[in-house]
Amino acid sequence: MSDAIAKKTNAAFQTAKLTSYWLELAGLPEAVEYSRLIHLDQELDPKMILHSRDMCFLNPVIHEIRYGSINAFIERSGCRNILDIACGYSPRGLLFARKGYHYVGADLPVVAEQLCEVVRELHLEGLEYVGADATNYDSLKAAFDRMSGPVCIVVEGLGMYLSAHEAETVRRNITCLLSEREGSCYVTTDPGNGYLFHAVITSLYPPNQTMMRFGQLFEMYNWASDGGITYETAKRPIEDDIEMYRRIGMTVEMVPLLPEGTRLRAFDRLPEEAVQALSKAMTKPLLLTGSAAGVVSVKTEKDEVPFSLESKKTDGMLQIKVSGRLDSLSAPELMRCFESSRDEIDRVVIDLSDTSFVSAAGGRVFYQIRKALGEDNRLILKGQSGEVAQEIETDDIIRHVD
Ligand SMILES: C[S@@+](CC[C@H](N)C(=O)[O-])C[C@H]1O[C@@H](n2cnc3c(N)ncnc32)[C@H](O)[C@@H]1O
Repeated sequence: MSDAIAKKTNAAFQTAKLTSYWLELAGLPEAVEYSRLIHLDQELDPKMILHSRDMCFLNPVIHEIRYGSINAFIERSGCRNILDIACGYSPRGLLFARKGYHYVGADLPVVAEQLCEVVRELHLEGLEYVGADATNYDSLKAAFDRMSGPVCIVVEGLGMYLSAHEAETVRRNITCLLSEREGSCYVTTDPGNGYLFHAVITSLYPPNQTMMRFGQLFEMYNWASDGGITYETAKRPIEDDIEMYRRIGMTVEMVPLLPEGTRLRAFDRLPEEAVQALSKAMTKPLLLTGSAAGVVSVKTEKDEVPFSLESKKTDGMLQIKVSGRLDSLSAPELMRCFESSRDEIDRVVIDLSDTSFVSAAGGRVFYQIRKALGEDNRLILKGQSGEVAQEIETDDIIRHVD
């Protein structure tokens, strides 16, 4: 599955390499070791990094705080199992498996398959990676069930790549998992991600320079993920996110990122005034923690038509019928189906009448097919139900025709 098509369909995974790079630059020992294990020096495209002095200073600080705040919560939670959803290339697994925790990192198959190789080399019990799509409940449940006992579910740096509809589906899935295993808990920096960036920037730069730095940060991630940031989700006020969690059935509490008195590695390189300002920013209540308020129901594979594609070619036209979920796991199949007929066709009709869900990865495939066909209206999407039509509409990278 880790082929060029799967990588193109799910470009957000590239940004995960940036996080490891910043943590390595921050000097975290496990990040330095992990970067070597995953060959980050060869894997990371230098074009993704905005190599300005400011970015190479700010990012290690931001990521040391973000990564460290989640780690500190896991330790406090008392759970000895961790499900790290959209784990990317985070060194968290290495850190916690060495401490005797059972860590399962769940990310898209392109990432998980690569990391499974690393794990084989390490022979470290309690460190596992599995392919999953956070919008797909069954894939998360399979990862969750690899552990016994209460689980601390972690999400770091995923939210801004999801559409509003996907974000709600992911949160529902997490709440459902929490409700299934007593004592389990949830921690994320996601709804406060932009706020965290902002808090760090405003504590280190004069007011007339903060917006520019903030903009540069977002642009860098947007570029690295091939335009993957969903501004609708990235810019949503934190209160709206909290409200959404509560509506779904999670009990949430915003707690300080790090306890007062926590020392960052970056402190050694900063003047006392900056250390004081940053220490204050680090104690802002931007860490969202949660547990299930009750039983939550979600759509599972049992409730849905299984994913399948049927295709036929007539007179230069490729007709594809997509059944089931078109998510990060299945979208590469659609792209493969198109590419295998590419030389014989110049029009595509995709029938979505039996499609139950279209994620941003599905939308990206529509966009890529349309781009490859070259002219408007050479890709026709038809038959989408109200809900699927809405999922496609909210994803502004594509335009559909009925
Ligand atoms: C910015 S990275 C964050 C990685 C890691 N949590 C960290 O903080 O270093 C975003 C990650 O989300 C993953 N991702 C994107 N969409 C996903 C989905 N639908 N399901 C699971 N993982 C997803 C990407 O593959 C990528 O590894």
